[in-house]
Formats: sequence, C-alpha cells, structure tokens
Amino acid sequence: MRIATLTSGGDCPGLNAVIRAIVRTANQEHDSTVVGYRDGWLGLLDDDRVDLYDDDAIDKILVRGGTILGTGRLHPDIFKANLETIKANLADARVDALIAIGGEGTLKGAKWLADNGVPVIGVPKTIDNDVLATDYTFGFDSAVAVATDAIDRLHTTAESHKRIFLVEVMGRHTGWIALHAGLAGGAHHIVIPEVPFDVSEITKSMERRFQMGEKYGIIVVAEGAQPRPGTMAVDDKGVDEFGHRRLGGMGQLIGEEISRSTGYDVRTTVLGHVQRGGVPTAFDRVLASRFGVHATRAAHRGEFGSSVVLRGEFIETVPLSEVVAKVKTVPMQRYEIAEALFG
Ligand code: F6P
Repeated sequence: MRIATLTSGGDCPGLNAVIRAIVRTANQEHDSTVVGYRDGWLGLLDDDRVDLYDDDAIDKILVRGGTILGTGRLHPDIFKANLETIKANLADARVDALIAIGGEGTLKGAKWLADNGVPVIGVPKTIDNDVLATDYTFGFDSAVAVATDAIDRLHTTAESHKRIFLVEVMGRHTGWIALHAGLAGGAHHIVIPEVPFDVSEITKSMERRFQMGEKYGIIVVAEGAQPRPGTMAVDDKGVDEFGHRRLGGMGQLIGEEISRSTGYDVRTTVLGHVQRGGVPTAFDRVLASRFGVHATRAAHRGEFGSSVVLRGEFIETVPLSEVVAKVKTVPMQRYEIAEALFG
C-alpha cells in the first residue's frame, strides 16, 4: 500500500510524532511506503510531495515541535473547486490512502473528500482541544504546560509588585487552555468563551481578594472570551479571509477596566504563539504516536471516512461526521470546579 499524509491548519507539538509513527508502522508492519505533501492541502493541490523513509532522520523527529512537512490554511472554496486536481495528483502518486492530520477545519475537509470518494483517514490535532469525539487532541497538553509555566512565573512578580496580571491564552471558540492552565497555575479568576463575562464581577472578585489581605491577583483570559451583552464596549475588529473573527486584546481591555475602576496596578501578558512552539510533552508524544500507529492500521483495514480518537484509555476509529459535528466546548461542570477555587 502507498500512504500519503499531510499536516494542515495551525501547527502544534506532536505533529512530527504522528508522521514518524505513520512512516514506521507503514514500513515495518505492512511493508508500505509513505509520501508526505507539503504545507497541508496546498501541497496536495500543487502536487508538492516528498517520499518519507523509516530512517534515522524520521526516528529523531519524535521530540521536534512544528511539522517537518510544513502546514498552511486553505480556503474551503478553493479546496472544493479542486477536487479533480486532488484526485489526479493522488492517482499520479499511486496513493491508496490519505491520512490527514489537522483540527476541525482540516477534518471537515477530510470528510468532504471522503464523501467524494477519496480514501481518507483523519487524525485530530490542535492545542485548543476543541475537536469533538476525542477526549484529548495532542498539542493541548504541551500548550497547557507552557501557559502553566508562564502563570507560575507571573505569580512571583505579581506578588512582589502587588499587581493584578491578566494572562491572555489561545482559545478562539473554547476555553480549554485557559481552564486547565488556570486551574494548574492557581489563577484567581478564569474567563472563557463559553461563559460571557461581566467585568464588574471580575473586579469585585479582585476587590474581595484585596480586602481579605491578599495583595495580588492572576486572571487567565481565553482570547475568544466575550463580555455579557451590554456590560462592556468592545471594538469589532472584523473577520479574516477565512471568516474568523479577528481576536486579541480581551485581556488588555479587561485589565484597563479593572485598573480604571479600582486604581490597582494592572499588567497584561499575551502568551500567543509561544503556546504552539517547542517540544511536545511526554503525554503529547505518546498520544500522537498512538494516533499515528492506529491511523496507519486503520488505513490498511480500509476504514476510510473515519478518524482516530481517544476515548478513555483507548484509541478508536469513529466516522469523520462524528468528529466535525460541532466544536467541543468546556463542560460547565468543569468550569464550576474552577469557579469554586476563584478569588
Ligand atoms: O487553532 C489553533 C490556534 O492556535 C488558535 O488557538 C488561535 O486562535 C489560532 O490558531 C491562531 O492562528 P494563527 O497562527 O493563524 O495566528
């Protein structure tokens, strides 16, 4: 069998571990060959590919962040207008199965290809952990580790200067990183997109903290957080070429509001792409490796139109339709656990 793979959408730690696992499993278990397309769907359209071998170089990418294949985002309209080119390129490369590694957008593309007769298997990735049907995506644990480390560091400087720190983390639609890093880092308040905030309540919670004798505060804010309607003015920054709302600056806005109403010394730290870079954690290396092995085996069993997912302790394959049905948001029960520790 000849397997093709590609990595698409925002990068995350663990992508190379999946590629390595695919190449090794295909070569060693099945005597199959692997070709990688560069820069996500774009490489498939442009027929930009490289043969991947189970050599020393592939073995060593386990610990490397990013993706050796490169990644990119392609507008769904361009993608869909090129079905025949995609099919022709896959036929030309004698590809029997395509393993697409990506987040929600990529997996939607994979499902559309599968619906149109392309033999595809999905592997879910994203630091955001917002892909449905899988308990976790790889990349998330690494991002949470980076954000937690940053919060740990901010505690000491915040306390020394008696300041309130707003820490803005990634999370466009969901607050998984904010919630987990906030919990792990002992944040005094966490703001997530799933729960529209009222800045006066956050302010009161900080005031209560200071009245109790505490002299600093840490508030973690997901970049996609939104105020409860009518509670705070927010400029509309419009949408990008993919129709995504332009984000960034919510931490700063909340901080300015707290500073204005209380006079506290407030600072904002935006973690940004630091959360996506660097080496994967051990958890992400293991999950990514397991996904890669299982996806390759599923390809050899002909389970096309499916995606590997983590369910409890086990890796399973489920139809891609289950994975892309909607975004996986933070369950309120888990947010309430965090709330119990606010202040
Ligand atoms: O989906 C992953 C993610 O890191 C989001 O958390 C973030 O909003 C977005 O990608 C940033 O995208 P870009 O790298 O295009 O700025």
